[in-house]
Amino acid sequence: MSEASAQPAAGPPSAPARTANPAATATAPSQAVPALEAEGLSKSFGAVRALEEANLTVWPGQVLGLVGDNGAGKSTLVKCVSGRLHPDRGTVRVAGEVLRARSPEVARARGIEVVYQNLALVDSLDIATNLFLGREPVLGPRPFSWLGFLRTRQMRQEAARVLREVGVDLRGASVADPVEQLSGGQRQGIAVGRAVVWGQKVVLMDEPSAALGVEQTRHVHDLIRRLRDRGVGVVLISHNMQEVMQVCDHVTVMRAGRTIVTVPVSEVSGEMLVGYITGAIEPRSDG
Ligand SMILES: Nc1ncnc2c1ncn2[C@@H]1O[C@H](COP(=O)(O)OP(=O)(O)OP(=O)(O)O)[C@@H](O)[C@H]1O
Ligand SMILES: [Mg+2]
Repeated sequence: MSEASAQPAAGPPSAPARTANPAATATAPSQAVPALEAEGLSKSFGAVRALEEANLTVWPGQVLGLVGDNGAGKSTLVKCVSGRLHPDRGTVRVAGEVLRARSPEVARARGIEVVYQNLALVDSLDIATNLFLGREPVLGPRPFSWLGFLRTRQMRQEAARVLREVGVDLRGASVADPVEQLSGGQRQGIAVGRAVVWGQKVVLMDEPSAALGVEQTRHVHDLIRRLRDRGVGVVLISHNMQEVMQVCDHVTVMRAGRTIVTVPVSEVSGEMLVGYITGAIEPRSDG
């Protein structure tokens, strides 16, 4: 294995050093199967090698930072895991089982949710429909219009409840309003809320706080901790080293399509991470 690691590659990391909540010890050795394991993922776009033998391991209840310069391959890695892109090579396992049929629907059915960098909300649809996209409540065969009405009503009630629960403030908008009326931050809130509600095993967040103010960013961090406490593995992509150090327990660094090192945040500084990202520091190779 070419990738260096500051922890034994074979087993789950010990309890994260920077966690206030004891539930975070869900990453303790009793849970021997990673929530998500990507191995040897490669993906080229023509001559551009976006991913080269990239590896990623996320344990239940772990918050893993994924960092790297622009174009390092972070979003491509997330998309290959979530079925949005098909890798040229490599394996993805969810809770120990190989994810074969790769499509967003299959990944979702296996408990993987993603907050994409460029939000995957449908502008013309209302908030409730966006929240349930691809998994609208089933109440019976579609031809009966009154069932359609009931379905819509049930979905809107449920959407309002879910948004309250995850603390998304629509500021006067209703779940029946189209998403295009919302601010960037509110859309981000819906996308994060959707992932938090549906994510059973792994939630991957591609720069979820990039469009958010201070208060909403703090709220996203709270939601990440809630996922962790539920035993969900979280991958947080961020360019903000302070955020990574504050929220994550481990960090994987990518450079030019490769995952070059995974370290516990307790063993690195923000400056060291920047060094790994830029190439000023080469990770120690452990073979
Ligand atoms: N659909 C695509 N077609 C062609 N090239 C692509 C495509 N998607 C990504 N790439 C290229 O693959 C490389 C990795 O891109 P990716 O979006 O994964 O980087 P990233 O680490 O997410 O960067 P950023 O921090 O800027 O979001 C880049 O060189 C990018 O131009
Ligand atoms: Mg990206």
